[in-house]
Amino acid sequence: MQKYLKEVEEWLDRLYIAAEGATLRKEDRRKACEVAAMMEEIERAASRFSRRSSLLLVDAAAGKSYVGLLAAKLILPSIGCGTYVVTIECDRQRVEASRRAAERLCSSIPIDCRQASVETADAWPSQPSIITALHACGEAADAIIDRAIACRTRVLLLVPCCTSESVAASRQAQAQAEALGIPRHAPVRRRFIQSFVDAERTLRLESAGYETEVVEFVAPTVTPHNVLWRARLVGEPQRMKSAQSALASLLAAK
Ligand SMILES: C[S@@+](CC[C@H](N)C(=O)[O-])C[C@H]1O[C@@H](n2cnc3c(N)ncnc32)[C@H](O)[C@@H]1O
Repeated sequence: MQKYLKEVEEWLDRLYIAAEGATLRKEDRRKACEVAAMMEEIERAASRFSRRSSLLLVDAAAGKSYVGLLAAKLILPSIGCGTYVVTIECDRQRVEASRRAAERLCSSIPIDCRQASVETADAWPSQPSIITALHACGEAADAIIDRAIACRTRVLLLVPCCTSESVAASRQAQAQAEALGIPRHAPVRRRFIQSFVDAERTLRLESAGYETEVVEFVAPTVTPHNVLWRARLVGEPQRMKSAQSALASLLAAK
C-alpha cells in the first residue's frame, strides 16, 4: 500500500470529483496511484533542503494541478517556512479548475496557478527548487528539462508522456534507425526511438551537471507511461564530461 494513497484519493475526490457531483472512477484511482507515488518522490527530494531556506515547487504541464496542490497540502507544510507552489498549464479550463481546487484546499502554503506554455521562460519563477512534471507531453517534457537546466533547479522529477515526431530527438532517432537498418516493423521501431529519446534526455541532464536515476515509479498496469527521471544537480565535472562525450556520440552515430 502506498504511503499517501488514501489521503490522495480523499483529496482528489473532495477537490475535483465530489465538487462536480461525481465519485472516483477507475481512471481516477489510477491517477491517485501516480500522484501518491509523486508525493513520496517530493517528500524525499524536499527532505534534502535546509529548513531555514525557502523552497519553491513548480508543477509543470500541471493539468488540474493534482501534484502541486496535494504537495502543498500533504508534504510541504512539514518542510518549514518559506515554502510555496507555482503550477504552469497552457489549457485555460484546467487552470480555472486548478484555481477553484486551490480555493477549496485552504492550504497554508501559497499557490499560484499560471496559464502559460512551459516553453515561455517568463512564465517560470527564476529559481524553482524542485520541478515536477507528471505526464508532460512530448515537446513539453523537453522544454521542462531545458528550463530546469537553465535555472539550475536542484531537483527535477519528470515523467514524460507520449513521444511524437514533434520531439527533436525522435526525428534524429528515425534518421539513425534508417542508417543502422533498424527494421520498420512498428513495435521494433517504436522501442528503438523511445530508447534513443530516453538516452538523449538522460545524457542532456547529465551533461548539465545532474545525477539522474531513471525508474519505474508505478507499475505499468497503472500507466504505460511509468518512467520517472529523478535528476539532482550535483555539478560533478568528470560526470558531466563523460556525459557530454556520450551525448555527442549518440547524436553523431551513423
Ligand atoms: C497528460 S496531461 C497531465 C496533466 C497532469 N500533470 C496530470 O498528471 O494529471 C498533460 C498536460 O500538459 C499540458 N501541456 C501540454 N503541453 C504544454 C505546454 N507546452 N505548456 C504547458 N502545458 C502543456 C496539457 O494541456 C495537459 O494538461
